[in-house]
Amino acid sequence: MDFPNGFLWGASTAAHQIEGGNVHSDWWEREWGRVPGAVVETPSGDAADSYHRYGEDMALLADAGLDTYRFSIEWARIEPEDGWISHAAIDHYRRMVDTAIGLGLRPMITLHHFTNPIWFAREGGWHSDAAADRFARYVEAAMPVLEAVDLVCTINEPNMVSVLADPEVGFPSIGLPPGVPAVTDRLIDAHKRAVDIVRGDGCLAGWSVATQAYQPIDGAEQVAAAYGASREDVFLDAARGDDWIGVQAYTRTKIGPEGPLPIPDDAERTLTGWEYFPPAVGDGIRNAWSRAGVPVYVTENGMATADDARRIDYTRGALEAVHACIADGADVRGYLHWSLLDNYEWGSYRPTFGLIAWDRDTFERSPKPSLGWLGEVARANALR
Ligand code: FCB
Repeated sequence: MDFPNGFLWGASTAAHQIEGGNVHSDWWEREWGRVPGAVVETPSGDAADSYHRYGEDMALLADAGLDTYRFSIEWARIEPEDGWISHAAIDHYRRMVDTAIGLGLRPMITLHHFTNPIWFAREGGWHSDAAADRFARYVEAAMPVLEAVDLVCTINEPNMVSVLADPEVGFPSIGLPPGVPAVTDRLIDAHKRAVDIVRGDGCLAGWSVATQAYQPIDGAEQVAAAYGASREDVFLDAARGDDWIGVQAYTRTKIGPEGPLPIPDDAERTLTGWEYFPPAVGDGIRNAWSRAGVPVYVTENGMATADDARRIDYTRGALEAVHACIADGADVRGYLHWSLLDNYEWGSYRPTFGLIAWDRDTFERSPKPSLGWLGEVARANALR
């Protein structure tokens, strides 16, 4: 299975999940019990210390044969206080971009990956009417980081930001809350403002949406369509006219006439409890391509497992689905695996998604066989 010429192969990370010491972010506050009602199993602490070890991490990626690194820059470091910009943080992220390019990696930069500065959260976060203005001001300030960058992801999984935005709504054991319409509107506004800003500097702008492969069964087509509308489709539709759309896919949700169905007892589950379902990425690509109609990058895909051979199986299955979408005419331009490193999975280090493991005390990196495997696929630009 050959992939198109120029297809990008890489891996993704997010600042808070790997950098360590992200003390000015709302997640740090939550981890240390300073957000009423939020209970977190483990604080992120030093994470993988990639804030200092990013050069080594990028070199492992490049040496394996991959060509693209998606990482996020941290708003809480760049603007730790309302209106005050840290030039040292800007310089840090410029060095990261330079390091990537020096290693032959194309950097894809995410401007917002779930975390906010504490001050932004305190002022109402995405519930405040000032949210899009505040975000746009940060993006303007971050522009020096993007000088040598072409691919920019404005906001990671805005749909997850919206569905998690209502503190009154608990997280159901199956499916997702419907999202907060006013937050969705502000996120779309913030995205459009960011697209204009980064395009002004010649960047190719998009955002990345969590696609859930909502699969109707027993004639529940309309129920599934209604279910996906606020949780996914509104965000894909908002990407019309962008330069690209990011698809992030892990698992599926079956929808019956009464709504989302539990995972069958005999289904294989990953360490996040999600059903093992590699073709999910194909559902995500088809939905994104038909709704947004712009080039697609798979910006996240992978599985949490302690069995690295199973990670390879999963990725092979996912790449077969990506290839089938391309064969059917979808304009898919790249595949970025989640994740380069085992990382802080929003409350716990147990779900290991990485192509690279690391020692919790010494931070010593240990590439897994899956890194070499994906590198070989990348070098061949083909799945054999
Ligand atoms: C996505 C997030 C990413 C990671 C993976 C497993 O929803 O974007 O940070 O947690 O899931």
